[in-house]
Amino acid sequence: MTRALLLSFSPHGKAAQTFRLARALLHEQAPHAEVTERDYGGRALPPLSREYANALTTPGGLSGPATALSEQLIVELEACDLLMICTPVHNFAVPAALKGWIDHVVRIHRSFTVNPQFEKVGLLKDRPTFVLVSSASSRKNREPDFLTPYLQTILGTVGIHSVEFAYLGAMVRGEAAVQRSLEQAHEQLSGAFYRQAGGQVPISSGA
Ligand SMILES: Cc1cc2nc3c(=O)[nH]c(=O)nc-3n(C[C@H](O)[C@H](O)[C@H](O)COP(=O)(O)O)c2cc1C
Repeated sequence: MTRALLLSFSPHGKAAQTFRLARALLHEQAPHAEVTERDYGGRALPPLSREYANALTTPGGLSGPATALSEQLIVELEACDLLMICTPVHNFAVPAALKGWIDHVVRIHRSFTVNPQFEKVGLLKDRPTFVLVSSASSRKNREPDFLTPYLQTILGTVGIHSVEFAYLGAMVRGEAAVQRSLEQAHEQLSGAFYRQAGGQVPISSGA
């Protein structure tokens, strides 16, 4: 059975359009999936503690209470075989809530390591990952996009490379524009779900 992890990094939490679309897609494409939903936007994770920062930068200091929350979030991520990240664009980049999750999850010697060439190498297994991005601007506006390359790099750092982005743009331009964005993203992601399952059957069948 597919185990899906559905994360919201919007201040609107589970009411965000991206989250509602992701939930609907899972319902349609993977009806038997075991779904874990988390609202890390509406109820942000705590800021990094001094103890956590020290644990990460001190040799041998990588376990114990300081890393307990990080460990919990990494275990939650490891447990899923389908990841859905729902996020708005904030000031051309990821919102602070998503950056906070990243800082807890991307942990040296746990979710990534460093090879003799000083390159970061992911320690988590790859898994189909969908990122639903909501913004006021449309992609046609050519606004700078620091979110996509950053998220691609950071997910790759922990070993997650099979990432599909869907952009819900013009989300502040009225009901018709929102509807159009939702329909386009729905169509793109339905196709992507199908391709991830080898173009044969939806992910839910376990084939
Ligand atoms: C603090 C803040 C910064 C924002 N920065 C941008 C931006 O740089 N580019 C953009 O297109 N939209 C920006 N927006 C608009 C949101 O991305 C947009 O309203 C999005 O649809 C919100 O999604 P949500 O309802 O899932 O939170 C910003 C919104 C906020 C609150």
